[in-house]
Amino acid sequence: MKIAVLKAMEAGESRVAATPDTIKKFVAAGADIAVEADAGAGSAISDAEYKAAGAAIAKTAKDALKDAAIVLAVRRPENLTGFPKGAAVVALMDPYGNEAALAAMAKAGLSALSLELIPRITRAQVMDVLSSQANLAGYQAVIEAAEAYGRAMPMMMTAAGTVPAARAFVMGAGVAGLQAIATARRLGAVVTATDVRPAAKEQVESLGAKFIAVEDEEFRQAETAAGYAKEMSKEYQAKQAELVRTHIAKQDIVITTALIPGRPAPRLIDKAMVKSMRDGSVIVDLAVERGGNVEGAKADEIVNAGGVSIIGYQNMAGRIAASASALLARNIFAFVEPMIDQESKALTIDREDEIIVGTLLTHDGAVVHPDFAQAAKTAGKTAGKKEASEPSEEGDD
Ligand code: NAI
Repeated sequence: MKIAVLKAMEAGESRVAATPDTIKKFVAAGADIAVEADAGAGSAISDAEYKAAGAAIAKTAKDALKDAAIVLAVRRPENLTGFPKGAAVVALMDPYGNEAALAAMAKAGLSALSLELIPRITRAQVMDVLSSQANLAGYQAVIEAAEAYGRAMPMMMTAAGTVPAARAFVMGAGVAGLQAIATARRLGAVVTATDVRPAAKEQVESLGAKFIAVEDEEFRQAETAAGYAKEMSKEYQAKQAELVRTHIAKQDIVITTALIPGRPAPRLIDKAMVKSMRDGSVIVDLAVERGGNVEGAKADEIVNAGGVSIIGYQNMAGRIAASASALLARNIFAFVEPMIDQESKALTIDREDEIIVGTLLTHDGAVVHPDFAQAAKTAGKTAGKKEASEPSEEGDD
């Protein structure tokens, strides 16, 4: 069974879906691997290292894809030329709002598996790309902030006088936020943090930061059964804004990470709040890909807002690509390995498995994921399917 590893073609994507470490594991599991030339260049992995790990180097994507049963990529491939019918494609599929692209994958006869939809159950923790990448993004956000901040982070007492410690405020204490808190603390900043989930309070305090939040009745109910934040009421948002308004004026560095699954990112910082910060302060908006927490943040830009830098890098984990790829590749290996049948060494997609049910978007010519199948139908995106030679089972799931 052949596995193809593709080079990322998207601008600003420097990660890769397999590393020499995971290539060795796939080879041990009985797979043949073809890595597209230069696939690891952005993550400091040479073709020679892939070769030494047991992969064949394919000159082009087309060569890598030939006869592949599984295709590994960082993001959903736009161009499906050369993808063998029936192949499983594993990537960050960014499925929401991209129903047409899903329909195209279905039409090409591919089994698209979406890494970001892996359910957050204990068995799947080792596959959790959202956590592995968010953790690095939280770290890197502080490094970028330190770079843009024209002052020292730790307090320094010198013969020439004292440099005060930077004050850092982390908004949203999920995976990325907690790592940002830990990193800012290691660099010597005085750290405060906020979240709308009560469970975050203890986690923030255990990292040595001070927790600041509007702790009313709504806050006590804010966590969903899955452990995620709910969208807060207008009244809560107003109280939260008031608290942030007074706090933020005294901060040097603000890192925002607030997200609500399936919703646009909540707006937490307005222009007036930005203006209230002193010159040279830095804001990093990690939610920029989902609309941003900060007014004035721009995707992939550092905006100078009256002396305050607002950093809006979209792919923050990709800015620390070698580490991000190492973790992403291990997540992907853990996800894919159970799909390789131990005896026949062939690809087996177990449609009963909770992890497959949660991640499989397209299969046998149809969009099969319950969250997207209906949308694909209503939009008539599957019209082309009627012309396809093989009958499909769409809607059976
Ligand atoms: P996320 O990326 O969806 O959101 C980031 C943070 O923003 C969350 O902590 C959320 O509460 C916060 N937030 C949302 N709206 C906000 C607002 N208006 N103001 C301030 N903060 C706001 O969340 P992430 O990082 O994916 O994790 C969420 C939770 O899930 C965490 O408790 C985490 O520990 C848990 N988790 C559980 C896993 C498991 O395998 N069981 C794996 C990963 C995370």
